[in-house]
Amino acid sequence: MRQVVQDLKILPTEEEKAACDLPRITADKNTGKHRKLYIESYGCQMNFSDSEIVMSILTEEGFDTTSTPDNADVILLNTCSIRDNAEQKVRFRLMHFNGLKRRKPSMIVGILGCMAERLKAQLLEQEKIVDMVVGPDAYRDLPNLINEVDGGHKAVNVFLSREETYADINPIRLTGDGVSAFISIMRGCDNMCSFCVVPYTRGRERSRDAHSIIKEAEELVANGYKEVTLLGQNVDSYKWASEDGSEKVNFAELLERVALINPELRVRFSTSHPKDITDEVLYTIKKHDNICNFIHLPAQSGNSRVLELMNRTYTREWYIERINKIREIFGDDCGVSSDMIAGFCTETEEEHQDTLSLMEYVKYDFGYLFSYSERPGTPAAKKLTDDIPEDVKQRRLTEIISLQRQHSLERNKSQVGQIQKILVEGFSKKSENDLRGRNNRNMMAIFPKKHYTKGQYVNVLITGCSGGTLLGEIID
Ligand code: SAH
Ligand code: SF4
Ligand code: F3S
Repeated sequence: MRQVVQDLKILPTEEEKAACDLPRITADKNTGKHRKLYIESYGCQMNFSDSEIVMSILTEEGFDTTSTPDNADVILLNTCSIRDNAEQKVRFRLMHFNGLKRRKPSMIVGILGCMAERLKAQLLEQEKIVDMVVGPDAYRDLPNLINEVDGGHKAVNVFLSREETYADINPIRLTGDGVSAFISIMRGCDNMCSFCVVPYTRGRERSRDAHSIIKEAEELVANGYKEVTLLGQNVDSYKWASEDGSEKVNFAELLERVALINPELRVRFSTSHPKDITDEVLYTIKKHDNICNFIHLPAQSGNSRVLELMNRTYTREWYIERINKIREIFGDDCGVSSDMIAGFCTETEEEHQDTLSLMEYVKYDFGYLFSYSERPGTPAAKKLTDDIPEDVKQRRLTEIISLQRQHSLERNKSQVGQIQKILVEGFSKKSENDLRGRNNRNMMAIFPKKHYTKGQYVNVLITGCSGGTLLGEIID
């Protein structure tokens, strides 16, 4: 029997995997006076961050929130279109909500995010229970759209903006650990990677006002947060200028400004693009202890011909040079992770071997590993043939996954014996006697709690590991 391998994210730990796999971000607020909102999020961290903005907009309007869809008056699904299986998950979920809506016809079901943008009004015809389709730049319009649905109409707003960054909206934090938060620093993407749907679902790249980012980070610090992750599809192309042009901020400068807010605040960022990550950014990370030594630098392939077909605008050699620079500046003390796509159009066996050999060269700490899924409307779908048979794609993906597993284990083993500064994020998922937290390099560690609690920094002696987790003991 053929083994089907699902796209696999190899995350730092099983714990973190469990946390990330939870599609739902929810919080309960029940004044008993208002309609109840339930929101579920799929896809990347940008979507999770957007759900926090949506929550803020609708609670301003007086909505209560619920963690149980059965109790909801309005159900919103913030969706992802990146691969076909991401969309299938949402369709499956809609079937479940169909049952709820039959019992409670007044319930409103809305699709937000990338799938809303990709399929637009088509979704209303395909998915009969959907009342509302709202693209990622139209969330301010949600109260009006809900009113329209209340008036007996279906509502759609998928307008993509060149300016919207939701800079003035204070997100309502839904992840709920009170330690770590995401800050969106830009939206959209101007790269045209041939396989990718994001430029079509998120529109043109725009950078958010640097002052509003700093203000948000300062408020998080004031509320006890200890870690922020600056988010964008390509953070290295962050570029903001004040209206009169007197102030210009690039990504390295923004990183530095956020780092200077408070030495106790850890700063992370994602995602970097290999063509854009500058030495200035690398030296800024090096200069500030509180900017974490961890870079997610998706290669997608280890072969230059495939990279050209993907329109990634760098070669294998360029990518290796960037890795060499990281190793020159940080030695071994910088985590690096990647995304890889197995079986892109026309990829030969030798070219697949180049991906494996690039992985051997870099030895990534972990990877997000996928098989190619053709997305309608993308340059690859229009100009190239999705000609690698599914079983070959899956076999290549399996090889990539098993190599990554070896490397993750190796990278973790090399940290055994070190004393590392860990930010405690909460209890281990398996036991309340243990705590979990990440090190500077983004690896998750588990250790007996002693008298410590979340939000504290602890020094942990790493005593063991698995491929996904470090194990240790707190050194008082
Ligand atoms: N902006 C980020 C990635 C965003 S999408 C970057 O440029 O790296 C996250 C990942 O999904 C991509 O890095 C890619 O590996 C994967 N991906 C995107 N489109 C895909 C497709 N059509 N099939 C399979 N994987 C895809
Ligand atoms: Fe997609 Fe490429 Fe933009 Fe990343 S950089 S979001 S892969 S188009
Ligand atoms: Fe998915 Fe959209 Fe993010 S397609 S990966 S939710 S930008």
